[in-house]
Amino acid sequence: MGERQSSLEGLELINIKSVHSDFWSAKRVLLTGHTGFKGSWLSLWLQSMGVTLRGIALDPPAPPALFDVARIAEGMEHRIADIRDFAAVKAQIDEFQPEIIIHMAAQPLVRYSYQEPIETYATNVMGTVHVLEAARHAGSVKAVINVTTDKCYENHEWVWGYRENEPMGGYDPYSSSKGCSELVTSAYRRSFFEQAGIALASVRAGNVIGGGDWSVDRLIPDVLRAFEASTPVVIRSPNAIRPWQHVLEPLSGYLMLAQALYEEGEKYSSGWNFGPNDEDTKPVQWIVEQMASKWGYDAAWIQDRGDHPHEANYLKLDVSKAKSQLGWKPIWNLDQALEKIVEWHKAWLAGSDMRTLCGQQIASYQSDTRILHV
Ligand SMILES: NC(=O)c1ccc[n+]([C@@H]2O[C@H](COP(=O)([O-])OP(=O)(O)OC[C@H]3O[C@@H](n4cnc5c(N)ncnc54)[C@H](O)[C@@H]3O)[C@@H](O)[C@H]2O)c1
Repeated sequence: MGERQSSLEGLELINIKSVHSDFWSAKRVLLTGHTGFKGSWLSLWLQSMGVTLRGIALDPPAPPALFDVARIAEGMEHRIADIRDFAAVKAQIDEFQPEIIIHMAAQPLVRYSYQEPIETYATNVMGTVHVLEAARHAGSVKAVINVTTDKCYENHEWVWGYRENEPMGGYDPYSSSKGCSELVTSAYRRSFFEQAGIALASVRAGNVIGGGDWSVDRLIPDVLRAFEASTPVVIRSPNAIRPWQHVLEPLSGYLMLAQALYEEGEKYSSGWNFGPNDEDTKPVQWIVEQMASKWGYDAAWIQDRGDHPHEANYLKLDVSKAKSQLGWKPIWNLDQALEKIVEWHKAWLAGSDMRTLCGQQIASYQSDTRILHV
């Protein structure tokens, strides 16, 4: 492990502070992974700002899926394309001629990556190569963001947050594939993008939570499924500590960074952490208990002591760089994030219009951002 140096030298504060819809309106944006959880939320946010948006991804997951529930395809060009197929990716990018690409399509699950390592590496590593390779030949692209994860760092299970300049690593195939995706990004930046004048950054978020996530093997979806079925919540690692954050938190960071990359270019072409404040890095058991009290459920939880593959126990991100260089900061704390999830899920169970509710939560996030930045 090398010295933990400052990664802030040579950058000046441009202080974007919030997502500017006047910047985004009428931009041409290609988003990969728009049929997934984060991609659906980001699509709605981009749509609300008047972006000309095309998404490429696989079909949405089996119902219920946020993509269907919030009618994401209504406000964008929705295309099915497999990022493992370079010709398909290139055809989409060449035809659409985006100015900005946000690449978030991935196989994102740790436990599934133990079952399907080839699929995980093919999607997360070669998929990234394909998107970057197509981007550099398109002739239209000014800024690219590659979405990796907090798990891309070599995890020492220590109490400090990881900084952007610390070594990549990864114990399991998912984490390591995202570390590889980071290395691909770095090589593409130095080998091709700098000369081509295309700004390229990678972004590392924490454990993202929010309404509309029904993925398997993720805590909040597992908790809500148990509440609905009136069964105890089964958790694998009650004491595992994760940097939890509402999905709109890292998405606001990605949007602010994309704006900085587009307007200021190269200076922002590097890795960026977007995690919660320290006090929101909490154990799994705490989340389950808070969710139960907000839901109004006398929840019990039991530990699944089965033989599970290795998962990290302690993981924190240092977000000093995003705070001081972009003016980004967490807006909703963990308590507010859990409130929003409960509000969202109860509204869905009550048959509400979830596209409208997502739009209201995005508007409320933006309004809270303005208040906190006054
Ligand atoms: N959810 C989290 O807690 C979290 C945390 C950190 C990073 N991330 C990263 O954020 C991104 C989005 O995660 P998510 O939680 O929305 O996952 P998700 O599973 O809900 O969505 C994944 C998206 O990628 C697409 N995809 C998968 N394989 C593809 C392929 N071969 N070709 C084209 N598209 C493909 C899917 O169709 C879907 O649109 C991923 O890169 C993930 O690694 C997620």
